[in-house]
Amino acid sequence: METIYRKINPQEIDMSVIEEASKILKRGDMVAFPTETVYGLGADALNEDASRKIYAAKGRPSDNPLIVHVSNTEQVKRVVKEIPEAAKKLMDAFWPGPLTIIFNKADVVPNGTTGGLNTVAVRMPSHEVARTLIEYSDVLIAAPSANTSGRPSPTTAKHVMDDLNGKISMVIDGGEVGIGIESTIVDVTSDIPTILRPGFINKRMLEEVIGHVEVDKAIIGRPDPALKPKAPGMKYKHYAPKADFTIYEGDKDSVAEKINEIAREYINKGYKVGIIASDESVDKYHYGEVVSIGSRADELSISKSLYKVLRSFDDMKVDYILGESFESDELGPAIMNRMLKAAGYQVIHT
Ligand code: TXA
Ligand code: MG
Repeated sequence: METIYRKINPQEIDMSVIEEASKILKRGDMVAFPTETVYGLGADALNEDASRKIYAAKGRPSDNPLIVHVSNTEQVKRVVKEIPEAAKKLMDAFWPGPLTIIFNKADVVPNGTTGGLNTVAVRMPSHEVARTLIEYSDVLIAAPSANTSGRPSPTTAKHVMDDLNGKISMVIDGGEVGIGIESTIVDVTSDIPTILRPGFINKRMLEEVIGHVEVDKAIIGRPDPALKPKAPGMKYKHYAPKADFTIYEGDKDSVAEKINEIAREYINKGYKVGIIASDESVDKYHYGEVVSIGSRADELSISKSLYKVLRSFDDMKVDYILGESFESDELGPAIMNRMLKAAGYQVIHT
């Protein structure tokens, strides 16, 4: 299949591109489009054949449910059984934006979209291109991240083309995304709202609006085989670069010293090494392909570059990635959740 590629300016949306994309969605085919978090691979959420195509294109396990993207509250009412009080407050506070809410699903939502669960994940994205596409087409769009399963999520249209060119009908290029890691997922179907995936909207922000919030125990720290994550996708070794990735924790000078030592060792053995530094530390590294992921003074610069940096190491075909750790107050838990998964939880304390 020939993938149609169209550029669009989010500040001045060319409606002919939206029109072309909505025709494709309405006939049950797939369009990748930008959101504020990562690029999504969209298809009609209420058409089981259309959502099945998403699983095939991504090579995604069929038990991993999709998020339904909406552009107004009326559309939410079409796909959920009821809107609990906590959800109303969260919708008021954070929508449109990078928050996905789990509801009990209405019968119209096919099992193919929810992986057989009787709940449904819903998100109202804030990105102008995503909102315009949903609103104009009036298609409720099921959209996982537009990557091949297991690869880092796409933050540019080029990443989408690298993975899915020839497999989907259209890619809308709206430039690089703003956040760079996937939305926070919160489940409001049980008594205590629970975070199933950390993201830009963090625990503190949620608690300011709805009071006490828990974090799914299965996503804290190293995966415990006895605990099953409530978001099925969180059990997979997602976000993985091709190289062997290790994170180094500790005070900044000893981390740099250790990484330099290990990098030199690997390079002497003939391996190619990539190093993840920050703007503040990039000058401390003397071996391998040194990349700054952003500034520690600006957490968003780090979340925005994480997947791009991991993909660039795939392109450079490095054998080993040695990375600093990026613990921080606001976005730290979300960034470290993705980094630890990408590293298969290999962490060295210096
Ligand atoms: O930021 C995002 O959320 C992006 C953009 C495109 O909106 N989408 C995204 O989709 O990250 P995806 O498919 O890569 O991740 C969806 C996650 C998976 O971990 C899945 O298991 C979980 O949401 N999920 C979906 N429906 C669920 C449900 N009913 N109950 C629990 N978890 C659910
Ligand atoms: Mg994904």
